[in-house]
Amino acid sequence: MTETTIQEKARLVAGASTWKTVASGSDLPALLLADGPHGLRSQGAEGDSLGIGDSLPAVCFPPAVALGSTWNPELIERVGAALGDEAARLGVQVLLGPGMNIKRSPLGGRNFEYFSEDPRLTGELATALVRGIQSRGVAATPKHFAANNQETDRMRVDVTVSRRALREIYLSAFERVVREAKPWALMSAYNRVNGVFASENRWLLDEVLREQWGFDGLVMSDWGAVDDPAAAVAAGLDLEMPPSGRHDRIVSAVTGGRLDESALDTAIERLRVLAQRTAAPRPLGTVEDAEQVALEAAGEAITLLKNDGVLPLEDGSVRLLVVGEFARTPRFQGGGSSRVRPTAVTNVLDSLRRMSGGDVAFCPGFSLSGEVDEALADAAVEAARDADVVLAFLGLPDHAESEGFDRAGLTLPADQLALLRRLGESGARVVVVLSNGGVVDVASWRDDVDAIVEGWLLGQAGGTAMAEVLLGRVSPSGRLAESIPLRLEDTPSHLTFPGRDGQVLYGEDVYVGYRGYDTRAVEVAYPFGFGLSYTSFAYEGLEIEPMGPNSWSVSMRLRNAGVRAGGEVVQLYVAADSSAVDRPVHELRGFRKVFLEPGESRTVSWELEPRDFAFWNARFERWQVAPGEYRIEVGASSRDIRLVGTVHSAGDGVRDPLRLDSTLGEWSAHPVSAPLLAQMRAAMPAGAAEAAPELLEMVRSTPVIKLTTWGIGVTEETVRDVVARANADPEGDEPR
Ligand code: GLC
Repeated sequence: MTETTIQEKARLVAGASTWKTVASGSDLPALLLADGPHGLRSQGAEGDSLGIGDSLPAVCFPPAVALGSTWNPELIERVGAALGDEAARLGVQVLLGPGMNIKRSPLGGRNFEYFSEDPRLTGELATALVRGIQSRGVAATPKHFAANNQETDRMRVDVTVSRRALREIYLSAFERVVREAKPWALMSAYNRVNGVFASENRWLLDEVLREQWGFDGLVMSDWGAVDDPAAAVAAGLDLEMPPSGRHDRIVSAVTGGRLDESALDTAIERLRVLAQRTAAPRPLGTVEDAEQVALEAAGEAITLLKNDGVLPLEDGSVRLLVVGEFARTPRFQGGGSSRVRPTAVTNVLDSLRRMSGGDVAFCPGFSLSGEVDEALADAAVEAARDADVVLAFLGLPDHAESEGFDRAGLTLPADQLALLRRLGESGARVVVVLSNGGVVDVASWRDDVDAIVEGWLLGQAGGTAMAEVLLGRVSPSGRLAESIPLRLEDTPSHLTFPGRDGQVLYGEDVYVGYRGYDTRAVEVAYPFGFGLSYTSFAYEGLEIEPMGPNSWSVSMRLRNAGVRAGGEVVQLYVAADSSAVDRPVHELRGFRKVFLEPGESRTVSWELEPRDFAFWNARFERWQVAPGEYRIEVGASSRDIRLVGTVHSAGDGVRDPLRLDSTLGEWSAHPVSAPLLAQMRAAMPAGAAEAAPELLEMVRSTPVIKLTTWGIGVTEETVRDVVARANADPEGDEPR
């Protein structure tokens, strides 16, 4: 790169426009960036300054809420590859996705754009998507790093969250993607994390992301997220998007000695590397290939929650009535920056009519405008009298959820619920098919219907996919990637979401989603991992074999015990039975999606490694495997464990160092300080040593250094000496 002035360097670390970076010389071409996680939202090289005008047609895949429900990394990688093809075709070098924040509350307005409440499922699926996208020479951009779990006040809110919850819940999916998929870019979040904006948070962007995880890509801001451009560059942000025109702030920071010029050079080098990596995007698939993948993904996302036998609809003589505008006017994606202009859209009504060949009547039943239309409801109820089965397509209209705002409640629109009640009185069997990006309340009406199909938002091919499942051509194999609570009040984050006065406190800590419901033994409507099939599966033959320190191989046999082909998601949870620290009753540590013909069996296996048993020791900033018993649970959902085994761990053998603030209790547990403590107690004045046992229990949590104020002969020098000796010889191996 030619010698560039500070001014020129300052210009390079911000975009040239809303979607492009600055070109400089021959080895730094301008790069074109575009949303979004489930399809290209791009106006091409030209377009309006905000990018809100119509974008070029692109295949609209199922948003992450649906992709998450497939639990199928192999399929998701193919979705990623197809996204990469689409980007390459449109000349886009950097695709702004996947969105992978954890669903802390079902009220999150952008939950449609995220995978799950669980970081393991999120991390594995996002890893697959990134691998697929980058296999075409297009950069993926996992986002929004980190703890962007609400839309309320998102550009200012300060997220107060424990280091342990950060590591175990809000960072660990990003860690998995960085370590396993090596994304070429990453987007920092709008919000503050423990007081510091994510886009200028050195701990996040440098210490954790680069030093600890080895990230070697480019970090860009979310759009308009940068508060102080000089502080952002100093913290490890490489690209402000879009440009805010405050280059002078960077120049003056450098000339004023507050920002080292080398930070600019580093950021520009990362931009150059990104340009190199994306120099030759190569589409390998066609638009038709992409549309086929979109259909397959939609089909695998559909989650059957209830079925009294009414599904699948295979009897052509059954008089079907389709009710609900969603059947004709599908809601197939969410609102905001991810919105795609699809190449084609199928609706369920036309698909059913085309596939069934039967007489399928239709009534809109309600308006999507938000206006209540009693006439539509009356007509639907009247028509239901002549139907054997009513397919009621209900859900959340566009204005109910979106990027930019959170929801206030979980219930479906009142007019839809009123209609559903009346349909239930018609005498026809009722199948509810849902279209929603965020979880909705089902407990208040599920007993009054015969089947519930959760369709989430399925992308442009959702109409065909849903008809194939309803008619039995595809067996439903989706599983809940987010728990459905009985009541909003039961949700672990209920009292603190979305916070107030610019602050949100993650008071539930690591107990997010099923971790909270299961640990508190709170009933849910449908648990994490749940989903029905048109067949049934038998779980047999659990085998657990040690592989090394805190590592085991686990295998089991899955059999299709029914008469139809189907897909099952076998889930593996680890439960720490005896632990020094409070932990969720169990945590997802593996899963496999398996498709079997009737009667077919297959062995499913996993390799568990130390990290699968570890918790984050926040005091000493490390992953720790505590000694004790661990249950290995294999099941069909977090609440349907079919096989259980137990392993014993000796722990990781790492002893935490003593510190000046280490307590009497910690000293008494350490092989070097324990004997010294006994000596010190023996040397204490009469009375102090024989203190009543309850007194000793009371002082166990007292830092030993505080004893220097008790006048019992303990000096700071003594304490420092013991700490030094204990840390020099942690196991006390040296002769004393
Ligand atoms: C939005 C979103 C982000 C998106 C970006 C560009 O505000 O938070 O996900 O990629 O801006 O549209």
